[in-house]
Amino acid sequence: MNILVINGPNLNMLGIREPGIYGNDNYEALVDKIASYCEERAIDVTCLQSNHEGDIVDMIQQAYFDKVDGIVINPGAYTHTSVAILDALKSVDIPAVEVHISDVSSREPFRQVSYVSYYCFATIMGEGLEGYLHAIDLIEDKLDPEK
Ligand code: DQA
Repeated sequence: MNILVINGPNLNMLGIREPGIYGNDNYEALVDKIASYCEERAIDVTCLQSNHEGDIVDMIQQAYFDKVDGIVINPGAYTHTSVAILDALKSVDIPAVEVHISDVSSREPFRQVSYVSYYCFATIMGEGLEGYLHAIDLIEDKLDPEK
């Protein structure tokens, strides 16, 4: 099983940006955490991050050609604006889970809309970096329910 984890804009600034909301761990710590979790489960994982909407569309399209089994995506602020990222997910038809480190449901009104939610089969929010591991569990359960 291979999973692609996509992080959108400003998630490379973890540990620096608003630590009261996003915590003190940096992006490298997140990637390490995901890599060791997946290694224990014999899951192939690739973690990518971009600040650019078109790059994220490209990553999702490439996942189709790379025969990726599942996508975990935190689109950052593009969650609330990007029809293009939603359409890319719909185009490739790969099972996907949306993750937010913070509890967006208790934040500003402009964060209450998520375009990718129209595609993702689950949304995890407010679980900090552990939320990515939870998302991987959900994808594993969906792809391999016998496990
Ligand atoms: C976020 C929440 C978004 O509203 C915000 O723009 C982010 C991060 C989260 O992980 O909590 O960049 O997706």
